[in-house]
Amino acid sequence: MTKSQSNLMLALLAGVFGILLYISFGAGTDEPAKAKSVTEAQVAGDPREAVVLNAEQHQFALEQMRGLLVTIRDLDAAETIPDPATAIELARAQGPGSGGKHPDGFHEALPEGFRQMSQAMRKSFAGMADAAAKGDKPAYQESQQQALNTCIGCHETYRFEQQQSSGIID
Ligand code: HEC
Repeated sequence: MTKSQSNLMLALLAGVFGILLYISFGAGTDEPAKAKSVTEAQVAGDPREAVVLNAEQHQFALEQMRGLLVTIRDLDAAETIPDPATAIELARAQGPGSGGKHPDGFHEALPEGFRQMSQAMRKSFAGMADAAAKGDKPAYQESQQQALNTCIGCHETYRFEQQQSSGIID
């Protein structure tokens, strides 16, 4: 490498370093740090609507979600055996009013559209339980498709965002 090449290299490196410094310290120093939450920065480009929950509500919601996925797996196993009694019980357990004890303010924190999708999904699970009880496989499958489409529809529409603790309210 010639001297001028290495000088150029040094200049380029200094430039990159300067940009990095600017990004980490310089940009937006006129705005207080609270202006953008970490979550907002992480989800840049995510078009879904944020459902803002406090820490307890957030964990509760995610736990419910994981429970739903377990139900989907267990229902699949019950269908394969087949074991309609277990399928009925599992689907019924995710029907309307099965959300368990909610943390304070949970329902109020949910947008109307989110609540509607959640209710629609619970109704589809009830539909699965009813169809399984009647031995009506096509009706069961139709309700199952509806339930799964609601999982997908809601996941495409909403994301959770944990409220940043202000240290005053929380
Ligand atoms: C009414 C809306 C809604 C419905 C219906 C819904 N979900 Fe979710 N689910 C969400 C949101 C919002 C998240 C968080 C996504 C994010 O923040 O990126 C989530 C996250 C999850 C997660 C990740 C949990 C974790 O701990 O990270 C799983 C698993 C999941 N959902 C499964 C399901 C299944 C299975 C169904 C249907 C049987 C379902 N969900 C129905 C809104 C919904």
